Amino acid sequence: SERVLVTGAASGIGAALVDRLLARGDRVLALDRAPVAPRPGVEVLTCDLADPAAITSVLERVDVDGGVDRVAHVAGVPGTAPPLSVLAVNVLAPVLLVGTLIARMAPGGSAVTVSSVAAHRSAVPDDELDELLAATDPDGLARWLARHPHSGAEAYDTAKKALVRWTRLAAGDAVARGIRVNSVSPGPVETPILADFRASMGEADIDRAAATVGRHGRPEEVAAAIAFLLGPDASWISGTDLPVEGGLLAVRAARAA
Ligand code: NAI
Repeated sequence: SERVLVTGAASGIGAALVDRLLARGDRVLALDRAPVAPRPGVEVLTCDLADPAAITSVLERVDVDGGVDRVAHVAGVPGTAPPLSVLAVNVLAPVLLVGTLIARMAPGGSAVTVSSVAAHRSAVPDDELDELLAATDPDGLARWLARHPHSGAEAYDTAKKALVRWTRLAAGDAVARGIRVNSVSPGPVETPILADFRASMGEADIDRAAATVGRHGRPEEVAAAIAFLLGPDASWISGTDLPVEGGLLAVRAARAA
């Protein structure tokens, strides 16, 4: 049985992933700032991912317990939050947490991050994303925001775009050590965060997505994709982003063609 750390484990996609991993016999380290119900096979890690010091202490605790074989960064905050919090949880937290866990992983390990189709809405170019990814603390994020002003909603899109880029670059660095790193990009999924997306991205956009592909996704459908990329069935896949959106991007491409 493997030890898998899941962030955002208290709700939605993260909670569905925990269920799935337990069903296949993994031991789960369930990280969230919100309470996670204790149950057999689950070790709860309470942590506010917006706080780098809290991430450092979680990493120490994980190390003392023998490290992890795999990690899924599912936690995220919507664009209704202030831009600095959006960048802290959706970019800096995975860079610090997933980056460190990858560096300490044994060969055969894997990581998955959760981005979003919203990444395609950001026009921020790669060199500016790289500046954002170079921030090592919230002050660095604040300096980046001062140079590149973003609303909360814009910060969400840019954060998810930066996360796809980071994941790909981290995957390239990890290949030589036998570790795989991938991301998934969900379209709208029926979880509590969807109400916030309606507020930050506009109800029309969210409803149009459902109209385009017939419905919103279910958290289990995204959890299945994450579990696939984390596990041995994806042993020859690294550095890729898997859209999980019912064909939304394909329909948009077909319409634009
Ligand atoms: P959710 O709101 O059900 O779950 C998010 C979880 O992240 C919550 O348990 C929350 O407590 C945790 N979290 C947030 N901030 C945290 C912090 N500072 N420290 C620790 N934990 C924190 O939402 P859902 O849908 O499960 O979202 C999971 C991921 O999927 C997010 O990264 C989100 O951006 C992404 N996503 C969701 C879509 C949707 O329509 N539901 C669409 C595209 C991407």
